[in-house]
Amino acid sequence: MSRVLHISSSPRGGASESLQIANAFLDSYRETHPDAEVDIWDLWDGSLPPFGPAAAAAKMTIFGGGTPEGEQAAAWRDARVTFDRFDAADHLLFSVPMWNASVPYILKQFIDVISQPGTVFGVDPQAGYTHLLEGRGKKAFVVYTSAVWGPPLGSEFGTDFQSTYFNDWLRWTGITDITELRYHPTLTGDADGERQKIHEAAREAGRRG
Ligand SMILES: Cc1cc2nc3c(=O)[nH]c(=O)nc-3n(C[C@H](O)[C@H](O)[C@H](O)COP(=O)(O)O)c2cc1C
Repeated sequence: MSRVLHISSSPRGGASESLQIANAFLDSYRETHPDAEVDIWDLWDGSLPPFGPAAAAAKMTIFGGGTPEGEQAAAWRDARVTFDRFDAADHLLFSVPMWNASVPYILKQFIDVISQPGTVFGVDPQAGYTHLLEGRGKKAFVVYTSAVWGPPLGSEFGTDFQSTYFNDWLRWTGITDITELRYHPTLTGDADGERQKIHEAAREAGRRG
């Protein structure tokens, strides 16, 4: 039985393009994986813990070889619980709108919470990083949307730090099987036509899983 987790980072509910594309994926995924467990995580639902002073101090305590205590221990536990929900899935679906050339800050918060030594990475002073989710059979499907920037446009329309950053983070964790579903109609493009095409591509990707 496969477990899919949809991590949604648009706060725009029914108006969200990325969410609608993700839902097209999930509708056909459910048809071809009737036994799959599907977990939906709206990052804006208030469940994501902060990664503030106590958590950052805990991280540095761990790096220094110590054991977090008190507030630090509580923050470290919250981060671990968040990671465990993420790690329970073998298929990960992300909906990621472009915000100011990058990803919405709630998704960056998610990344900062779960990216810990011993969860997604290890580090060796000589050899560099190890990628702890490598070889675990995890697959990522990422819906990237934007409204102004698009691949054929020059830098006067912005720069893509959205997929470059997020794909790099996925690879850093060890998840290298990445399927991108892109909707970048641009201000002068055929938004409806492009929407139709990406919804069909999302349904097809969902069917294959
Ligand atoms: C806060 C915010 C910042 C945005 N920044 C950009 C941007 O830098 N470049 C761009 O092309 N579109 C930008 N957009 C437009 C969105 O990326 C685009 O409308 C996208 O499809 C939104 O996804 P959603 O409908 O799933 O929320 C921005 C939208 C918002 C709300």
